[in-house]
This record gives sequence, C-alpha cells and structure tokens, in this order.
Amino acid sequence: MTLKTLNLLVLATVTALAVQAEEPQPQPQRLTETPEQYAQRMKWFGEARFGMFIHWGVYSVPAGEFDGGTNYGEWILESVNGEDQKAGHAYRLPVSKYEKFADEFNPVKFNAREWAHLAKQAGMKYLVITSKHHDGFDMWPSQVGDWNIGRTPFKRDPLKELSEACHAEGIQFCLYHSIMDWHQPDYGIRRPWNDLATNPPNMDRYMVYLKSQLQEIITHYGPLGILWFDGEWEDAWTTDRGIEIYNYIRGLQPNLIVNNRVGRARAGMSGMNKGAGVGDYGTPEQEIPATGFGPGVYWESCMTMNDHWGYNQHDQNFKSTSELVHNLIDCASKGGNYLLNVGPTSEGLFPAASVERLKQIGEWMHANSESIYATEAGPLGHLPWGRCTQKTQGSRTTLYLHVFDWPSDGKLVVPGLLSTPNSARLLVSGQKLHSSKTADGIVIEVPQEAPDKISTTVVLRIKGKVQVADAQH
Ligand code: GLC
Repeated sequence: MTLKTLNLLVLATVTALAVQAEEPQPQPQRLTETPEQYAQRMKWFGEARFGMFIHWGVYSVPAGEFDGGTNYGEWILESVNGEDQKAGHAYRLPVSKYEKFADEFNPVKFNAREWAHLAKQAGMKYLVITSKHHDGFDMWPSQVGDWNIGRTPFKRDPLKELSEACHAEGIQFCLYHSIMDWHQPDYGIRRPWNDLATNPPNMDRYMVYLKSQLQEIITHYGPLGILWFDGEWEDAWTTDRGIEIYNYIRGLQPNLIVNNRVGRARAGMSGMNKGAGVGDYGTPEQEIPATGFGPGVYWESCMTMNDHWGYNQHDQNFKSTSELVHNLIDCASKGGNYLLNVGPTSEGLFPAASVERLKQIGEWMHANSESIYATEAGPLGHLPWGRCTQKTQGSRTTLYLHVFDWPSDGKLVVPGLLSTPNSARLLVSGQKLHSSKTADGIVIEVPQEAPDKISTTVVLRIKGKVQVADAQH
C-alpha cells in the first residue's frame, strides 16, 4: 500500500465516523477532499443533466421470455428460480443452464458509433453501460475468471468499442458494476440454484476479485466519468467494504465520480442517503424527488423508457416522448440529472421505439438545451403549468420557464415572482413577449397556440437576484 492510499483510507474512515454521529442527512457523503475540490470534481456531472443508461448482457438472449413467462428482464435468473423456490419445484434455470445463453450471445449488429451517436443526438452528455450486472457476467474479456464476453461467439470487446466511440463524440463514458453477484462463488450470499459453486462464500476473497475487475475496467476503458455501483443492499456488503472500494478506485483515478450505491446508506428507491454514506451522489430510481435538495447536493434519477431495464421483447409500454422530456425538465428544475435507460437486443440493436424517442427528444434538445445544461434548480417552487430552471451570470439571472400546459387565454401567470423582468421572449423563435406585474405575479402575454406541443421555453431576464414570494427550493 502506498502512502497516498493509506492517507486516503485514514481520512475516509475518520470522515465517515465523524459524520455518523450527526443527524440523518439527505446528501451523499464524500470522502477525502475539501468542498471546493469536491465541487470541481462534480462539475461536469452537475452541468450535464442528461445521460443514457444501457442494460446489456446475456439476459438479452431470452429477451424477457422463459418457459411461458414473458415479464422477465435482467433479473431473469433470480426471478425464475425464485418462483420455483416459492412453489417448491426443482430449479428450471440453475446457473449451469443460464450460462448457455452466453453461447448464443452474438450481437453482430452492434455498432458502437451508432449508439454513441444516438446518445449525442438526444442531447445526452454521458453514457453508463453495464460492465457487470447481478448475473456476474462481464461484458469485457476479463483476465479474472471466464464468465465473460470472451466465451461467447462474439469475439469483440463492446466496452472498448463504446468507450472509443463515446470519446469521439465527446460523451463521458461510464460503467455500471454490480456488487451483488449471483455467479461468483465467493459472493457472500450464495443462491441455492448456483449449481456450479462449491466452496463456502468468502467476502474477503470476493473483494480481491472485485478489485481486479475494477482495476481492469478503469485501466482499459478509462478515464471513466462515473463508476455506477448497484446491488449493495444485501448484508454481504458493508459500509467499510464500500469505503475500501471507494478509496481503491479513486486511488486508481482520482477524478472518478462514484454513486452512493457503493455504500449502504441509500434509502430505498428514493435514492438519497439516510445518515452517513459513501459515494458522491444520490440515485433515485424510477422516481423523481418532489423537490431538490439545495445547491451542492448532487443526484440523478434513473428511469426506464418502458417497464424493464434489460431487453424484453414483449414490453411495448413505452413512455411518450413528451413524458420523457418532461421528466428531464423536472429533474433539471430540481437540480438533478436524468439517466434514461435503453435495453438493447442480443443482436446489438436499440429497440426501434427507443430510437424513435431518442431522436424526438434530440429535436427538442437541439432547440432548447440552453435551458437544461448547466442550469440550477428554479427558484419558484410549484408552478401549475410546468417547471423553471435558472442561470446566473454576474448580476443577471435568466429564468427559463418550461411550459408544459399552454394557457388557453394567452396569459402565462408566473405566481410568486416579485422581480420585474427586463425582457421576456420565446427561446426558440426569439419572439419578444410583453410582461407586466399584477397582484397574481408576473403575467406574460403569449401566442394563442403553444409553439411546441411538448414544452415551450419562455426566457425571462432579470437584473440581480430573483425575488420570490415563497421560495420552496
Ligand atoms: C435495480 C435493479 C437493476 C437495475 C437498477 C437500475 O436496483 O436491481 O436491475 O439495474 O435498479 O438502477
């Protein structure tokens, strides 16, 4: 162990212990650095607002279907066996049988440049793909073990190709790596349907394995934007192990960003830490918090486009483009990011419905991204017609009003805004709008028809700090 690593470790432990005595707090705890250094490291993330999540693995071969059931996804291994367990049946999908999906995994249509380009066109600034999901399968030809892409007929390295394509597009390349591992025999909670594992589990040995994997992915595909952990909720994982991994990977790449699922403090699906945690930001899942958490608290809501993360051929329950854009705006208006998932097929293609939506989101972003990137949470609290983001430059503030529901009487009322705007205009056309102060707040005269059916952005310029009647953020 180098002196530097030792220092990190000591600092981390002390910080974590010191914080533990305090009240539960919503923000993720960070280790080993000053608030300024932390803000600097988080800068690109805080400005990005929009990323692509990709769940891709050998579970895309069954494509959500097994033995008459059609509602599976990346959890198929545990789901099928869990059902058997409950019903007292023999396991239909022991690990030895699941492994056969790897023999059929041959995504010859995979084109990393197309994927990265679709993300870029959609306005996404980063991409997080599964290097390993809970099934333990490595999507790169790892040197540790043989449960990886090297054993499939697909003799390529998708992580290498995608990291290069992202780099070429200026997209931060990030990896999702599961802590929980249903395949590796040393992982602390052994599934009874893991018919290939023999020796008793041993988490100390598992840590060695996990570190080798992390070392490989950071050195082969890095520098990474984020290491996105998951599967931390079982008691095999501890805060101490989380701190050890956090320090280890930041020792390998100091500017790495790590989500809070590396620790044990995440409060369920709401995703923020309860009490002291490990990691740099909170991870709400399939939900967007009711309000933000104030400046300097970073978070990202990850959400599916349909109802599954991994590819499910039967799931056509896709959200509309409008809903997806509103979710992105909702996150930005509360100071958070939106991580939107795609589950590619075993051929290596994005589902057509996902491509269609990505392109439509891209059209909206192309015209409106100024109101999203590098904005802060809006100061206005609840707005009956939509959301608000803001930017401050010197003594000027720009408010971006995101109007989801266009006023039928041509008057957009901004309740609670006390400042008088210097100017008001539509972002896309530049058309100037007349605004006036009334007892209800600022009233802006807008065209009868909504210029953009998804969401129209109205820009207000305000001198000085915005004055509001009732700040809820
Ligand atoms: C859940 C699931 C998982 C998915 C993840 C995304 O925790 O276990 O399948 O990868 O959420 O946030």
